[in-house]
Amino acid sequence: MTNRLDGPLKVTGEARYGSDHNFPGMAYGYVVVSTIAHGEIAAMDLAAASGAPGVLAVYSPFDPLELRTPTSPILGDTWVPLQDKEVTYYGQPIGFVVAETFEQARDAAMLIEVTYHERPALTSLEGGLDSAEDASPTARQEPPALEILADGVESIEDALAASPVVVGATYTTAPQNHAAMEPHSAVAVWEAGVLTVYSGNQGANLQAAELASALDIDPSSVRAIDPFVGGAFGGKGRTSVPAFLAAAAARDIGRPVKAALTREQVFTATAGRAATVQKISLGADADGTLIALRHDSVCSTGADRSFVEPTSHGTSREWYATQNLAISQKIVPLNVPPTTFMRAPGEAPGSFALESAIDELAVALNMDPIELRLRNNSTAPPGKDLQWSSKHLDECFRIGAQRFGWANRAPHGRTDGDWLVGLGTATAMFPALRFPATVEVTLRADDTAVVSTSGADPGTGLLTVLSLVGAESLDIPPEQVTPRLGDSALPPGGMSGGSTATASAGTAIMIAAATVIDDLVALASAPGAPFEGEEVSYADGRVLAGGRTMTFGELLRALNRSSISATGSSAPGEELTKHSFSSWGAQFCEVRVHRWTREARVSRLLGVFDAGRIINEKAARSQIMGGMIWGVSAALHEGLEIEANGRQANGDFAGYLLPVNADVPEVGVHFVEYPDTLHNAVGAKGLGEIGTVGMAAAVANAVYNATGVRVRHIPITIEDLL
Ligand code: MOS
Repeated sequence: MTNRLDGPLKVTGEARYGSDHNFPGMAYGYVVVSTIAHGEIAAMDLAAASGAPGVLAVYSPFDPLELRTPTSPILGDTWVPLQDKEVTYYGQPIGFVVAETFEQARDAAMLIEVTYHERPALTSLEGGLDSAEDASPTARQEPPALEILADGVESIEDALAASPVVVGATYTTAPQNHAAMEPHSAVAVWEAGVLTVYSGNQGANLQAAELASALDIDPSSVRAIDPFVGGAFGGKGRTSVPAFLAAAAARDIGRPVKAALTREQVFTATAGRAATVQKISLGADADGTLIALRHDSVCSTGADRSFVEPTSHGTSREWYATQNLAISQKIVPLNVPPTTFMRAPGEAPGSFALESAIDELAVALNMDPIELRLRNNSTAPPGKDLQWSSKHLDECFRIGAQRFGWANRAPHGRTDGDWLVGLGTATAMFPALRFPATVEVTLRADDTAVVSTSGADPGTGLLTVLSLVGAESLDIPPEQVTPRLGDSALPPGGMSGGSTATASAGTAIMIAAATVIDDLVALASAPGAPFEGEEVSYADGRVLAGGRTMTFGELLRALNRSSISATGSSAPGEELTKHSFSSWGAQFCEVRVHRWTREARVSRLLGVFDAGRIINEKAARSQIMGGMIWGVSAALHEGLEIEANGRQANGDFAGYLLPVNADVPEVGVHFVEYPDTLHNAVGAKGLGEIGTVGMAAAVANAVYNATGVRVRHIPITIEDLL
């Protein structure tokens, strides 16, 4: 059991997040946001704000800060504020006031009068379904439409029509905001033409590159620092609005600038999860064998159409074996804040629909839902030849069923006093991915080692993983390893996204450690060295030959060296031509619905996961637990309510429901541990996102078991169960 190294710093307030940094002469910026959903800014009266006490500068589309649209190799173009007068959603950043104090900047911002040429706004996905457009391929979904048909089958409709048992329904999911504990914020400091930005982000080197591109300066002139990130999950993948504005304003006024979104602004001046409408049809044989699966998805996007929530992506690539499969993806651009990656993008809302539909099929077949799932367990993604490198989903379900008491589940639930009690289950999966990553390993003369990479730890536990994998690779205790991350000056660590960080950085650590050990051994036996000419080996942090040993620190001191370093890089490669890769899980939920008030309460949760090797079980359990709770949140609590004028009715922590301790009594997490070294040398497949996948369906399926009411949208509310 390893505690996370940054835990004490975080719980004692010692950890310094982006906006915890302060500098002499620092000014404060306040972001001004739009109060219409669609139109053009006709005028902004800035006179009163500019003349207000302490105000240093007021920026607007009429007097913009110089920013270009940056392109990230991983995320594509990122929108930068104030560059034109178009408003495409309510709460869009349209101005930036910089003053001597935060209060002065905020007060001045309130004095700005904006007039608009307002245009009609489309703010609900349902309102735009008739005009849905075909999605174009995105990073996570190519192609957006797919059809695989068995020999002799003409169409997916024919395959469904020929199936003895067919179920079909439409499922909808609510839009969500990331609502990370740390609001998006930044402190920007220029010194001798070099910009340093302190701002939580999922990849310091990627953030530095975006800022350099936006500010039109050399990448070597930007340093991004974010050793602590207060939650991200896709919402801090891109450089934030405060970071762009603080950096450009600091350059303009020649002083450090701090800017942070207010909690309400986090709900609009960032990006969130799309709303989705998904139509699923399943055709099966009487024995439960899937014959045909059709999944047609529509999601909302921002007006820029830039991010598609790929709900059928998983259906097309990962879930169940079926001879006939058709998916399609349409989008409805709305006048709402932009959409982006959010924990298990695609799979989270997609699994609500698919795993609810599978439950409906089990009911139609009068079959146990676990048995139905395992009957259709795929050995490779549909239509693909590449077998899964490892898949122990059957074991996850077996262990889970046993631990959860699934055998006691009655087809129509049971009662406990005034409570109707139901059990539900669902499959979880998330592809095992990697990003390119480089890590430096340094052995020091004081017998400690440093493992460093620019990547971020947004609460995932990467910092501790660096020390554990570093220690193992160097054959020394973890206490001797100092991990470093969250600084673009360190070797480029990729992105803490896509559940990739442990596999990506871990593999690079192993390569770097092997290299530094080789170099150390060569150093030990070099002319004039303590083991000159001998056959030197390395174990337990020591070089040894001829019955003599020295620690690496002793050797370095004998050689008068303070340290020796090597870097290692890893990237996805040949393995992609040999196998398909995914993490798997079995989700279980017990729900109690009150007979009279109809409130639904989750009383037990269990998730059993096959995510390859588990490096730090405590952090892994926390990570999965958080994902499962987010799934409960999606099922019973969370969802943005957007008014016709585009304003969010619940865009703050008073109105946006999130589960608290009282909502989630017991969360069981169990791992079946099969290191997957076909995927990467460390054997970890990734578990950042899979914890949330399937959980909303498991809750809804449990609600059905308890009440007989099939709710096909989330969040499920009391009204749905009356
Ligand atoms: Mo995650 S949604 O890939 O940050």
